[in-house]
Amino acid sequence: MYQIIDGKRISQEIKDELKERMEALKARGESRCLAVIQVGSDPASSVYVGNKKKACAYVGVDSLSYELPENTAQEELLSLIGDLNGNSRVSGILVQLPLPHHIDEEKILLAIDPRKDVDGFHPVNVGNLSIGRPGFVSCTPAGVIQLLKRSGIEIAGKECVVLGRSNIVGKPMAMLLLQENGTVTVCHSRTKNLKEIAKRADILVAAVGRPRFVNHDFVKEGAVVIDVGIHRNEDNRLCGDVDFDSVAPLTSAITPVPGGVGPMTIAMLMSNCVLGIQEA
Ligand code: GUN
Repeated sequence: MYQIIDGKRISQEIKDELKERMEALKARGESRCLAVIQVGSDPASSVYVGNKKKACAYVGVDSLSYELPENTAQEELLSLIGDLNGNSRVSGILVQLPLPHHIDEEKILLAIDPRKDVDGFHPVNVGNLSIGRPGFVSCTPAGVIQLLKRSGIEIAGKECVVLGRSNIVGKPMAMLLLQENGTVTVCHSRTKNLKEIAKRADILVAAVGRPRFVNHDFVKEGAVVIDVGIHRNEDNRLCGDVDFDSVAPLTSAITPVPGGVGPMTIAMLMSNCVLGIQEA
């Protein structure tokens, strides 16, 4: 019988720990403040931003909200980021992605002070992660590591296969698994023998962005399967990158969608906000 890794429970556990930590910080006269910037009114982004603000309120992190119109000039956004960089009350800055097409995303992410980059997207933080120095780590892959650790799953010495090489998930995921002494392979759209490589994995992380792409042909008996994907299927129901029904019986543990990796992203954002830069 396989274990279902309960991301909802684990993320709640983390938020409760952070809330307690925040109370202790406040008793010492410290505070934390996250500035959240959204440009335009993409409905999915509005839901994410709303959830981030709610999580801040729960944990005890102050939040500042900037809802800018779709036609905001890049210079205006850069100037706001400059102000927030210089505002000593603001400890974290998050620019919700995607940005409108007329804004250069890379330029915006580079403008955020790496010491306030709670998303872990700035090249300084990405570089620090890759050489094992303290820095902010991208929230979703950091959440996957917490799911594994808090479910008693050992990473050291394991064959870890990451499907996907995005800057936000696949690449930092590989770095974190390596940091935990896993033996890591990264696969992508040009990988040959994808199924054979995936089938070697003791820990398989699916972050390919294709609904139910990973079926039983990709999975070794007894593997741990982590599903980072989130999609709506034909019946408007949520599903992941993994075909749960065909894969789950083969595994020793698997994350569901919803309720697996999803809730961990915001929990780890709160962790970055409360704890700041952590030892690698
Ligand atoms: N858009 C979708 N996911 C994320 C995220 O984790 N951070 C930011 N800033 N934007 C996103």
